[in-house]
Amino acid sequence: MFELIVKNATLPDGRSGLDIACRNGRIAAVETGISAQAQDVIDADGLLVSPPFVDPHFHMDATLSLGTPRMNVSGTLLEGIALWGELKPIQTVEEIIARALRYCDLAVSQGIGAIRSHVDVCDDTLKGVEALLDVKRQVAPYLDLQLVAFPQDGVLRDPTALANLTRALDMGVDVVGGIPHFERTMDAGAESVRLLCEIAETRGLMVDMHCDESDDPMSRHVETLTQETQRLGMQGRVTGSHLTSMHSMDNYYVSKLIPLMIEAGLHAIPNPLINIMLQGRHDSYPKRRGQTRVRELRDAGITVGFGSDCVMDPWYSLGTADMLDVAHMGLHVGQLSSRADMAWCFEAVTSNSAAIMGLEGYGLEKGCAANMVLLQARDPIEAIRLRPARLAVVRGGRIIARTPVQSSALDIPGRPGVVDPSAFAPGGG
Ligand code: FE2
Repeated sequence: MFELIVKNATLPDGRSGLDIACRNGRIAAVETGISAQAQDVIDADGLLVSPPFVDPHFHMDATLSLGTPRMNVSGTLLEGIALWGELKPIQTVEEIIARALRYCDLAVSQGIGAIRSHVDVCDDTLKGVEALLDVKRQVAPYLDLQLVAFPQDGVLRDPTALANLTRALDMGVDVVGGIPHFERTMDAGAESVRLLCEIAETRGLMVDMHCDESDDPMSRHVETLTQETQRLGMQGRVTGSHLTSMHSMDNYYVSKLIPLMIEAGLHAIPNPLINIMLQGRHDSYPKRRGQTRVRELRDAGITVGFGSDCVMDPWYSLGTADMLDVAHMGLHVGQLSSRADMAWCFEAVTSNSAAIMGLEGYGLEKGCAANMVLLQARDPIEAIRLRPARLAVVRGGRIIARTPVQSSALDIPGRPGVVDPSAFAPGGG
C-alpha cells in the first residue's frame, strides 16, 4: 500500500508514461504501469512532473514590506538599501514572521520546495534572525528554508556587524554571507572576503556572498573569493551571488577569471528579475543589461542557479514567488534561446539550485524525498513559456497544494469555445 501514486507522468528529462509511487515520505518506485493500491492517486495525464522549484537566493526578512515606510523612488540598489535601513528599526519580530509565513504560503502554492534566504545581521537586536529561525522551524514540514547570515551594511563598514554575524551563526544560521563591494574600499572588500571565508571554514559552513553586484568592471571581489576558497580548501562550498560586474568586465580579464572560478569550484547565482531592473541605472544609451555571463559560466562547467532575490520589498515591487518567472527573465536577458538552452533554464531553477544548496534527497529517482510538482505543461520549455498552473504540489508523499486546470472560455461564433494555451507545440501540434 502506497501513500500516493502519480500516474502517467512526463519527467523533465523527457521520460514519459511513468508512475511515481511514494511510501514513508520517499519515492519507492518510478516505473511504468504500477498497479498497487494507494491512499491517493494523481492522474498526471502525460503532463510534466518535476522535483520542486528551488529558490537559491531570497530576502525573506524584507519580503512583502513594499511601501513601508515609503516607496523606492529612484529604483536604485542604494536607495533600496537606505530604505531598508529605515524599515529595520521600526519592524517587529511578529511582523517579520507574519510576512515570511505569508510568503512561504505563496511560494509553496507555486511549487517551491526550498529557499535559501539571506537574513540581515546589521541590527543589534537581530530581530530578523530570531524571526526567520522561528519561521524555519514552522515551515520545515512543507518547505526547506536555509538561512545566510548577511551583513547588509558591510561586515567591516558596520561597527557591530561582525559580532552580530557571529551571534547569528551561534543561534543556528546555516551559511556565511557577505557584501564585499559595499565595504568602503576595494582593500576592505578583499579583507571582508578573507575574514568571512575563514569564519565559514572554521565552523564547517558554506559561503554565499553578494559579490560584485555593481556595474563597475573593476569590482573584482569574485577573484578574491576564488583565492580564499582555494587557500582554505573550501572547493564546492562557496557561491558568488549576483556577480553583475562580470557583465561589464573586459573579455581578456574574464578569460583569466572563469578558470579561477572553476579551480575553486565556485557556484554562481544570478538574479535575473532584480538585476535587469537595477543594473545600468547610471547608463544613458546603450544601456547595459547587468546580468552576469550566464552562458559562459555554464559552458565552463560552473553550476549556475537562478534566484528570485526580492518580492515586493524595498528593491523590487513586483514578483509572484514563481521561479518560472525568474527562468523566463534569465532566458531572455541571457539570450538562451535554443531548445537546449531553454531546457537548461528550467534546471537553473530546479536541480542546479538544489545542488548549490546541498539539498539531501532531491530528485525524482527511487529513494529521493517524495517532493514534486505537477504542472499544466508537457515539458520544461512549455513550462517556461506558459508559467502554467501548479496542478498539484506534493511534499513527503502528501498533496499540500492544488490549483484547478486553467483555460479560458471563448464566445466567438465559429471559433472553439475554449482556449487552451498549452494546445500549441512546435511543428503546429
Ligand atoms: Fe540579494
